[in-house]
Amino acid sequence: MPFSREVFNQARFRRDIVGIDKKVPLYGGGYKTCVNLDNAASTPVLGPVLEKVNEFMDWYSSVHRGAGFKSQVSTRVYDEAHEIVGEFVKADLRKNSIIFVKNSTEAVNKVSYRMGLTKDDVILTTMMEHHSNDLPWRSRAKPVYAALDEKGALNYDDLEAKLRQYGDSIKLVSVSGASNVTGYKNDLGRIAALAHRAGVPVLVDGAQLIPHSPLDIKPDGHPEHIDYLVFSAHKMYAPFGTGVLIGPKHAFLRGGPEYTGGGTISIVTRELVEWAGLPDREEAGTPNVVGAVALAAAVKYLEGHGMGNIENHERALTSYALKKLAQIKGITIYGEKNPDNTENRVGVITFNLEGVTHELTAAALAWEDGIAVRNGCFCAHPYVLHLLRLKPQHVARIIHKKRTGDLSGIPGMVRVSLAAYNNKNDIDRLVECLGRITDMARSGELAERYAFSRKTGAYYPRNIKVDPGEVFRLG
Ligand code: ALA
Repeated sequence: MPFSREVFNQARFRRDIVGIDKKVPLYGGGYKTCVNLDNAASTPVLGPVLEKVNEFMDWYSSVHRGAGFKSQVSTRVYDEAHEIVGEFVKADLRKNSIIFVKNSTEAVNKVSYRMGLTKDDVILTTMMEHHSNDLPWRSRAKPVYAALDEKGALNYDDLEAKLRQYGDSIKLVSVSGASNVTGYKNDLGRIAALAHRAGVPVLVDGAQLIPHSPLDIKPDGHPEHIDYLVFSAHKMYAPFGTGVLIGPKHAFLRGGPEYTGGGTISIVTRELVEWAGLPDREEAGTPNVVGAVALAAAVKYLEGHGMGNIENHERALTSYALKKLAQIKGITIYGEKNPDNTENRVGVITFNLEGVTHELTAAALAWEDGIAVRNGCFCAHPYVLHLLRLKPQHVARIIHKKRTGDLSGIPGMVRVSLAAYNNKNDIDRLVECLGRITDMARSGELAERYAFSRKTGAYYPRNIKVDPGEVFRLG
């Protein structure tokens, strides 16, 4: 009974993760059960989500197009998935449209198109954004960035000052719900209230927040209402290609859609095109009904465990991880380090080890103990450069090197990102392995075991070559 209402059962959540016991190859031979600490990039799929998808496949057919009964089932399921997702964040479905796209990136791009911006229009965003909530605004408007404090958290005074400074030219305040680099959560109620007082709508990039914390976007007209919300199914245990864009219907009814074609129209003659209603006009082509089923199933599963319970578990685990990581000699943790201060963050922790590059640390975690993390700049280059306090001359050197195709010496960090199924054993394995890595770096053993590729910017074990095709083949 995967979707029944119940209190959070962490052990069961963990058991429900597909591939949780998968063994991966290690340096020097042998295999070990992997630990996934890269949930900010993509979470694994939940078994009950996969089961729901498989159950649905018997009924899979075209959506909004077929007369057959299966097509009616698929259409009904697809429409219902929109409602389930909207209700998850308490969207008023009479006033707002739930639009399914590929991912959060596409959703932000869609809003940037839809707003009919000019280069004089200001989008007030922050210095802590993922590129997906930065670059779409650069190409269509004039982004202005609210400053950060020295730890990388949003400076609300600066946000407020910029709201005053740019006044009527601001068309949107666009902020991340939680950072994919430091895990900092923004105070969305406060930001929305400030923006609305200035008559400006708010967009929240919820990609890193929605899988980890409850969110109520509040009724339309409420001072703390979130006007636009975007998030991605592949970060919430449903990796079948769905992104969510929630926004006021009126914003999507002006003019034609970004992508035109099948499914977007009411009637077409040689002379005229009448657009369909919402969300159809914004979901061009045959929709991804399998992705919609998976996302709705994931939402039901998460609701079954309780988003508040999930948040509490992840906060406790983040606190545990911060305490344990602080014991590693030569570690620098970025952002908030205090293990007792987990209220305004999710379980994303970035760090560097003294004397071991981020590339080598990440490779060694994978090959020495089967631990998956991400390293680099996490599609948030300006934020990472800020946190690393890099001088402009240093950045100029990096730009030059990248242009010449030399990926050595690129600054970055190692990132651990937690999810509801992770537990203390995962953290213990991480900390034990990081201790071993620092010892091996000191003795020179790491340098003997791993070689760097300037072309890919990654380290590889010198003594073994495991062909990924050995463990999984398509044909
Ligand atoms: N934005 C995702 C990450 O931080 C992909 O890894």
